[in-house]
Amino acid sequence: MVNQNDVAKWLQEVEHPAKGDKNLIELGMVENIEIEEGKVTVTIGFAKHRDPLAEYLIGSAKAAIIRNAPQGTQIEIKSIIKNEAAPKKKGLDLGEEELANVKHIIGIASGKGGVGKSTVSVNLAVALARLGYKVGLADADVYGPSVPKMTATEGLMPDAMQEGEKEIIMPLEKYGVKWMSIGYFARPEQALIWRGPMACNALKQMILQVRWGELDFLLIDMPPGTGDIHISLVHDIPLKGAVIVSTPQDVALADVEKGVNMFRNESVNKPIFGLVENMAWFTPEEHPDEKYYIFGREGGVKMAEKYNIPLLGQIPIVQSIRECGDAGEPAALSSRPDGLAFLALAEKLAANLN
Ligand SMILES: Nc1ncnc2c1ncn2[C@@H]1O[C@H](COP(=O)(O)OP(=O)(O)OP(=O)(O)O)[C@@H](O)[C@H]1O
Ligand SMILES: [Mg+2]
Repeated sequence: MVNQNDVAKWLQEVEHPAKGDKNLIELGMVENIEIEEGKVTVTIGFAKHRDPLAEYLIGSAKAAIIRNAPQGTQIEIKSIIKNEAAPKKKGLDLGEEELANVKHIIGIASGKGGVGKSTVSVNLAVALARLGYKVGLADADVYGPSVPKMTATEGLMPDAMQEGEKEIIMPLEKYGVKWMSIGYFARPEQALIWRGPMACNALKQMILQVRWGELDFLLIDMPPGTGDIHISLVHDIPLKGAVIVSTPQDVALADVEKGVNMFRNESVNKPIFGLVENMAWFTPEEHPDEKYYIFGREGGVKMAEKYNIPLLGQIPIVQSIRECGDAGEPAALSSRPDGLAFLALAEKLAANLN
């Protein structure tokens, strides 16, 4: 049977990224551990009224217990605010002040995973910046953040500051773009095992608590699928609309349909500014005129027609796009054909919006 000491030991695996990686126990943040008939209840005390890392730490504490406890153990993590002087409010109460000077907030979505949403988001952001727009990108993939790696900003820690009751996070700046990702607060090897509401709150913080300043575009790299987090996002963030990414493959296209419906259903009703057909064809470097339609031909084009969405562009499979992604130097920085393809995409999106 699990005892309090076991749980305390497991909680030492949870480090606070903003406190020199000291763990929850060392920091004296664990207020109480209760064990009762197969259920572990942990209470964590936070000093600040709105610790931007609260959701993250709660999720990580839960993950640490899941990793170590016998299967079937029920786990509850409670949080309390130690600074009682701060007025108590229910839930997460974030305004939209930080988005007041952002012109267009655009979700980059797809039904299916792995179609290149993050690649397109990062490159589109860089390309828009190259065109002279003020751009930010929020990585909303709280389960598998990829922006830190794709921009070689891993390991950097965004600054945070307290303003009255509010904790504000400063985005990182690189390649002329402001970046924010939950990946800056979590360790890459730490699986983010978060339940729906927790993930939704963390995500909202990554958008609403960030000092974006004046922006023409704030792109939101959405996680794959059409689950809770998407619904929460389309309801709580003042999205102007969406861009859908798909490959030409039939299965991917069936998922596109779900993605489209998510934005077009009555309660959401947000416009879709365009569809990007990614991995449209493969061109070997040594034969630049040849096109091989590995995932089928023009599936995205047909889908755009069927759903009456403008086709923003087709991006081929190019080895350098993946290599640049892995190296953290987005292909859109270059003036090679792949770089130019992303610039054309950016131009078209800006034109569709203006
Ligand atoms: N046009 C392309 N040419 C070559 N490689 C690509 C291209 N688009 C994406 N990739 C590669 O495919 C992989 C998946 O891309 P990416 O991570 O952008 O997809 P995603 O839709 O964001 O995935 P997830 O659903 O996991 O968030 C990455 O390794 C990326 O470098
Ligand atoms: Mg992604």
